[in-house]
Amino acid sequence: MYAGQDLTQIRKWLGGQKLKAPTMKDAPPFYRNLEAALDERRAGHNLVTLHRFEHKVDFSSNDFLSLATSGMLRKAFLEELERNPDFAVGSAGSRISDGNNAYIESVEGQIARFHGAEAALLVSSGYDANCAIFSAVPRPGDAIVYDELIHASVHDGMKTSLASTQIPFKHNSADSLRETLVSLKESQSLIRQGTRCVLVAVEAVYSMDGDVTPLAEIVEVVKDLFPDGNAQIVIDEAHSTGLVGKNGRGLVCALGLEKETQIAIRLHTYGKGLGTTGAAICANSTVLNTLLNFARPVIYTTAPSFPTLAAIRAGYNLMESGETQKLQDRVQYLVRHFCESIEADPAWDEAVNAGICSIPVSQDLESRSFVTQFLPVWTRQGQNYFLTMHLHGDGYTAIPIDPPVVPRGTGRVRLIIHAGNTEDEVEGLAASICRWAQEMLDIQESKTPGNEIPSAMRKVYGLAQAADGQGLDPSKLAANPVE
Ligand SMILES: Cc1ncc(COP(=O)(O)O)c(C=O)c1O
Repeated sequence: MYAGQDLTQIRKWLGGQKLKAPTMKDAPPFYRNLEAALDERRAGHNLVTLHRFEHKVDFSSNDFLSLATSGMLRKAFLEELERNPDFAVGSAGSRISDGNNAYIESVEGQIARFHGAEAALLVSSGYDANCAIFSAVPRPGDAIVYDELIHASVHDGMKTSLASTQIPFKHNSADSLRETLVSLKESQSLIRQGTRCVLVAVEAVYSMDGDVTPLAEIVEVVKDLFPDGNAQIVIDEAHSTGLVGKNGRGLVCALGLEKETQIAIRLHTYGKGLGTTGAAICANSTVLNTLLNFARPVIYTTAPSFPTLAAIRAGYNLMESGETQKLQDRVQYLVRHFCESIEADPAWDEAVNAGICSIPVSQDLESRSFVTQFLPVWTRQGQNYFLTMHLHGDGYTAIPIDPPVVPRGTGRVRLIIHAGNTEDEVEGLAASICRWAQEMLDIQESKTPGNEIPSAMRKVYGLAQAADGQGLDPSKLAANPVE
């Protein structure tokens, strides 16, 4: 994926797009075949290369509370190390063999208490957690019904699931969920009779749209259609942990649904708001025992190491003490401030009306009890690269998102607001987007052939031409979805 930050990185990325396999006739077939597979990406200018965002204002990382970088978590982490001077660094085994110990159990106890859950099981990542849940929990004859925008890790879990019926419902639509569940009951007698079960998979906050699942309605639909409890909700709180609810407890707690019998599993991950890595699956002992016995991503891997656990505990200590509530409030303020700033610029309104760009999630902010950290800017397909280059040029990080992650014909630039951003930075970001919007309006109005590409993008093409005389087609500058 191209998301280069400066000319050196753009050159590096461009260099990476040159086909390689044809130059490797005498190389071992093992490497030649791999390069041939990579060439398929290079041909579309979409080979993923590593990049670094240095010396730029962070409007793209998942570290939305700025805990990974601000020093607050580091301090709490070092204090936790001091409280445990004799720690063993590694866990020395899988959780089901030598990897269990008093420390991990006490962190799990703290997590469960904080979220009002019966119990918690720590795993190495949210990816592992979803693979574990969706591969191991459904029994033969069960079904999985999932929001169509559900994360890739749920899809990967479903690939090895015993639930052969896996059906999407329309994003955030309780009506679509109802229709899907009704037709599932009609077509599957064991589910209708209540001897086989349905898992309903949703995310609390969707990172590509920045919107929030209508959880209360979803619970009502599930309760109404499955009063005997043979349908259960699994909610992924990856992007809501630390953001939503008192001290960042998450959406389920914010809505007071901790004891809701229709929500069997909650996933809290720590690589985003909590500034570290790892994840906890909150559920009752039946579900957690199922994972310990059947989930390969739990069984066949080393349990999280002490430093990871200590960082997670440090994060929970900060949440419990109310320290992170200030950061949560700051994100709320800055998101609203960004929206006010951009809407006050006349170019923005004009560009929205001209269909050049929009931020749907910024609508009706007053009516919402909370906003999310995500501000995806919708553009026409391919033009998200124009905006991305422009923002990089102005010193801001931003990530372009393409189909199939977003609908065909559209593109998006995903912006994330952080507690550590300043008001000036947020105002600067809004002004930068509006300058780009004005440039696009001017291009659209002038209709001058050969002048369709905005200035930041022209610089990239200039580099491409200088590199090897090969021009680039913007529509081919497609990113590979990474999330
Ligand atoms: C909704 C969702 N669930 C799970 C994950 C995976 O979490 P982790 O990064 O801890 O593996 C992500 C990360 O991108 C995510 O966005």
